[in-house]
Amino acid sequence: MKILVINGPNLNMLGIREPDIYGRTTYADLCQMIEQHAQKIGAEVELYQSNHEGDLVDKIQEAYGIIDGIVINPGAYTHTSVAILDALKAVAIPAVEVHISEVDKREEFRQISYVRLACFATITGHGVNGYLEAMELIRERYES
Ligand code: DQA
Repeated sequence: MKILVINGPNLNMLGIREPDIYGRTTYADLCQMIEQHAQKIGAEVELYQSNHEGDLVDKIQEAYGIIDGIVINPGAYTHTSVAILDALKAVAIPAVEVHISEVDKREEFRQISYVRLACFATITGHGVNGYLEAMELIRERYES
């Protein structure tokens, strides 16, 4: 089972950016946590982060026929990007949307998610553990 974990804009700044909201775990720490968890559940994992919408679309397209599940935190593009939604729909790879913060309880504009329409589950407000929970959901779906 191959899982692709995609992080969008500003998530490379984890640990530095607004720690009261996003916590003190750095992006490097998060990558390590994800890799360790992948080993634990017997999955291969690929990590990708970009601040650019088109690069995120390219990465999703490249996953077609190769990747069994996508965990995606599109950052601010969650709330604006029809292109990322369409890319997820195009490849039709089971995907889980993750947000570190509880987006549904924040500003109104963060309560809109285009990407959610192409995901079979959403995890919000569980901090960085949400990524690991999303990997579990992908595994359960893959094995069922
Ligand atoms: C985020 C929430 C988004 O609204 C924000 O733009 C982010 C991070 C989260 O993980 O909580 O960059 O996706």
